[in-house]
Amino acid sequence: MKALVINGPNINMLGIREPGIYGAASYRDLVARCKQAGAELGFDEIACFQSNHEGAIIDKIQEAYGVFDGIVINPAAYTHTSIGILDALKAVSIPAVEVHISAVEEREDFRQVSYARLACFATITGEGLAGYDHALALLAEHLKPNANT
Ligand code: DQA
Repeated sequence: MKALVINGPNINMLGIREPGIYGAASYRDLVARCKQAGAELGFDEIACFQSNHEGAIIDKIQEAYGVFDGIVINPAAYTHTSIGILDALKAVSIPAVEVHISAVEEREDFRQVSYARLACFATITGEGLAGYDHALALLAEHLKPNANT
């Protein structure tokens, strides 16, 4: 069971960027956290990818086809604008969970639209970096629904 964690623009600035909203931990901390949570959940591999470029994110989603069983994605600002990322998720049909560190539903009007959400089976918001652990747990449950029975 292999999962790919994709983060969009400015997530590499975690810890520096608006810490009142996104917290004090760095992107490095986030990667370490995802790898640990993934191992505890029984994933064989957790690959992490971050880019500030929409096309690079689309390329990565396409490259995941036939390689990864699940995707956790925080498209960051592209959440609210990118039909290209939505279409890429739909094209590969890999089960995906959308994550947002902040409670986007309580923020500005322009953050109320999510295109990526339309290709995700679950959305986690407002749980900080713990939201990624939660998303990986949902993905594990989705990929091996009878593991505990
Ligand atoms: C974000 C929320 C987005 O609206 C914003 O553009 C981000 C981060 C979040 O994780 O809370 O960059 O996706």
